[in-house]
Amino acid sequence: MTVKNQDEIINQLFNGADPVGLGHPRRQQESYPSGHLSQLPLPGVAGLPRSPAIMNLPRFIALIPAAGVGSRMGTAVPKQYAALAGKPMIQHVMQTFSDSPLIDAVYVVISPEDDYMSALPEMPRTRILRCGGATRQASVTNGLRAIQQSVDPDDWILVHDAARPGLSLELIEKLIAFVKDDPVGGLLAVPVVDTIKRSDGHAHAEQTVSREHLWAAQTPQMFRHAPLLSALQSSENITDEASAFERMGFKPRLVEGSPRNFKVTLPEDMLLAELYLKGSA
Ligand code: CTP
Ligand code: MG
Repeated sequence: MTVKNQDEIINQLFNGADPVGLGHPRRQQESYPSGHLSQLPLPGVAGLPRSPAIMNLPRFIALIPAAGVGSRMGTAVPKQYAALAGKPMIQHVMQTFSDSPLIDAVYVVISPEDDYMSALPEMPRTRILRCGGATRQASVTNGLRAIQQSVDPDDWILVHDAARPGLSLELIEKLIAFVKDDPVGGLLAVPVVDTIKRSDGHAHAEQTVSREHLWAAQTPQMFRHAPLLSALQSSENITDEASAFERMGFKPRLVEGSPRNFKVTLPEDMLLAELYLKGSA
């Protein structure tokens, strides 16, 4: 596809246009519906647009997809509920977001059949959404739809895997600092350090791929609510939010994350995650 001029893209996405022609115009800026988590009082007269100063103050909201089954982990419980350093993996993640002074609300997307979340302690500013889907993309999309009436179209959504318990307050702060003024959005990622091989499909190296300019994507991935929902709805088979934007010609900002924020995927990952969480690695 043609890569659009950055100004054209920015205008489409953020000046009230329907970014991808899917019928998702921005809601009126002045209205916060009841049930809004932080109940921010809005200055100005109802019916008038928010002042530019307020419009420049979008909030930061965490959305944690946690509706997977953890098939590669192979534990009896879905891996996000496996115990790590004394508590379920997802509880570390929820706690970190709940503790962050920068985060206004935390939404956790779980499977409608989830039997485990109810055993966890409730946390401030945190809500559970039982709308997980068949894929991570479906879970995130369903979560974004579920909160649509509670957030502003320009609010920043930080989508973070429940399976990355190594996220720290400092990384959240760093991501927000680097991305909050970006017209598109961005994500944590780490530059690739290994020599990368492309195989012939049968465990023989066919080619060495230059690692120059290669980054391994992490989460959180931070985009504004309305463009993110539109982008996800118009993309198929994507494994992260940034790729939905890339396919549309955008260039999400890469912010250097940390190896500690790796995704716990295989049984052998549990030990390393535990060492990191206990502060002994
Ligand atoms: N996820 C989700 N809904 C799905 C699949 C995944 O919300 N249908 C979430 C997982 O719970 C996890 C994150 O997306 O927090 C990253 O996915 P991954 O690490 O692949 O977890 P699983 O899909 O559970 O693991 P596996 O692929 O090994 O089955
Ligand atoms: Mg998966």
